[in-house]
Amino acid sequence: MKNRTISLETLLQEGRKFPPSDPFRRQANIQDPDIYQKAAADPEGYWARWARELDWMKPWDQVLEWNPPFAKWFVGGKINASVNCVDRHLSQRQNKVAILWEGETGDTRRFTYGELSEQVNRFANVLKKRGIQRGDRVAIYLPMIPEIVIACLACSRIGAVHSVVFGGFSADSLRDRILDAHAELLVTADFGWRRGKRLFLKQSADGALTQTPSIENVVVVAREGTPSKECPMKGGRDHWWHDEMGKVEASCPPEAIDAEEMLFTLYTSGTTGKPKGIVHTTGGYLTGVYATTKWVFDLKENDVFWCTADIGWVTGHSYVIYGPLANGATVVIYEGAPDWPEKDRFWKIIEKYKVTIFYTAPTAIRAFMKWGAQWVDRADLSSLRLLGSVGEPINPEAWIWYHHYIGKEKCPIVDTWWQTETGCILMTPLPGITTTKPGSATKPFPGIAAEVLNDSGERVEVGGGYVAITKPWPSMLRTLFNDDERYVKQYWSKWKGIYFAGDGVKRDEDGDFWFLGRVDDVLKLAGHRIGTMEVESAFVDHPAVAESAVVGRPHDIKGEAIVAFVTLREPAKPSPELIEELKEHVVKKIGSIARPEEILFTVDLPKTRSGKIMRRLLRDIAVGKALGDTTTLADPSVVEGLKRQYESIEAG
Ligand code: WT7
Repeated sequence: MKNRTISLETLLQEGRKFPPSDPFRRQANIQDPDIYQKAAADPEGYWARWARELDWMKPWDQVLEWNPPFAKWFVGGKINASVNCVDRHLSQRQNKVAILWEGETGDTRRFTYGELSEQVNRFANVLKKRGIQRGDRVAIYLPMIPEIVIACLACSRIGAVHSVVFGGFSADSLRDRILDAHAELLVTADFGWRRGKRLFLKQSADGALTQTPSIENVVVVAREGTPSKECPMKGGRDHWWHDEMGKVEASCPPEAIDAEEMLFTLYTSGTTGKPKGIVHTTGGYLTGVYATTKWVFDLKENDVFWCTADIGWVTGHSYVIYGPLANGATVVIYEGAPDWPEKDRFWKIIEKYKVTIFYTAPTAIRAFMKWGAQWVDRADLSSLRLLGSVGEPINPEAWIWYHHYIGKEKCPIVDTWWQTETGCILMTPLPGITTTKPGSATKPFPGIAAEVLNDSGERVEVGGGYVAITKPWPSMLRTLFNDDERYVKQYWSKWKGIYFAGDGVKRDEDGDFWFLGRVDDVLKLAGHRIGTMEVESAFVDHPAVAESAVVGRPHDIKGEAIVAFVTLREPAKPSPELIEELKEHVVKKIGSIARPEEILFTVDLPKTRSGKIMRRLLRDIAVGKALGDTTTLADPSVVEGLKRQYESIEAG
């Protein structure tokens, strides 16, 4: 069992426990500790009760149809996501604010549920006018502006499938995702702001669009209302969002969507070079995100909910858009960087909008720690009542800092474990019930059947193993886009009929789960998921590179950083310039989240006799550990040489 991200000694030296305070417990949405047993006794009945809190156009005939590993939830039911996130709030919450948006440059916009409804209806009509029909894929490549929410909900209104591509991804990454999903329309923007700079998304998209014949129309949002001069528009194909919106009706009747029709696909990295399109359907996904938002975040009518994730990742889908809006909440959306113009930007936003629930990532918390508490003290954070963490294991030091400096020791912290594939949070404290421990995501959400299993599928009561989900849950992925085979192989083949998540975990004497990081070749770089093979493909795409091997090394702030071992092709010679050039090349191929931290040139890579690169050894070298067993290596001297070379670089 590899234990890459956090060592258990570090995790467990913080021994304090944090039971819920009495005042919090008494007002919590869920207070009954027996809920776990009740849900486990009848999971289908339990999930059906949750689903009934949504608005259905036709009730389901059957809660679950399970042909492992293929699940159908709420079979026969008809539902529309945009109706649940918008229309159904209009009677009571027409004038309640749905979105409080702040741009990086300080501009602000707000949308009530009534206003959001009109925007969603109009854009749904724009999509229809541009030929998009139920089932068609729409690619969305936008900055964190309100239009990203509007575009997703508009797709769901007419039964189109959205495929959001993170705005920080490169043109090549966008192209690959458009091609795989066969998207017909792209929504993008002239630019977005990040750390005081404009990111020209449409220009980047144009690079992709020369190779994506499936795209017939492009709708371009003018970030500042008026089209920027730097934005080239191609006649007949490219249309300005604001022009289009003015030319359509303000009302678009919602389609009655089958519970099992696709709501979206979202690409995420696995162990191969090619990202996979995770498929989420409508009824089950909405049920999962609705339920978890209500209980994990203890969401109430007057809360102001801020999940800092970009909508380009699943956290933004589930906890900026669908979960909170299905609950009729007010969400905060911020476009830019936490340290722009100064390192107190997040705290200023919390003060300004009186944020009550704040959900962010350990990598951000570690950056705040490094910047220092003086930035926090510049703002009034007294509105906060609950904090959340997601994306990677949170180290106890960061947890305690978060608790003390941000939560002022009065806010419960929910450390939530889940994945793009799981759709919603699966492991988490319930803030009115659970005693938390810094570094532990504690227990499965009620209705989720999770275990720790070893390689042979035996249950581990106390100790280490892999996290396994033994029963289907409503918001689970249904398959991979156009790739059932890979779906079965990737997630359901380690043990029969049991979901393999790819995470190492330890369960303690109280039954609490401690996540230890990925056990496969998936990296978490500042919480972002990237496969080592993707980065390796980007390297070998450069003419100077013959072969490369990429591993993760622990990083104080990012959690993990990329170390690459590269062999060169004649006549290329190692040089500092080539290192920079290769780093830029990887950024250009994938996006800046994949920028390698360190590149090491070598004449050979350590391989087994059958030719497999031994990443474990490279990882040991990258973290400066003593070498493990090298007896299966074809040429053990390769790795010894590499280690000496690496150490001399580190020393110099
Ligand atoms: C991987 C999934 C789903 C939210 C965003 C990430 C890691 C996520 C935690 C946590 C320990 C965590 C796991 C998981 N992860 N949350 N609270 N504690 N690890 O989604 O990009 O699909 O990544 O993130 O390794 O497998 P994702």
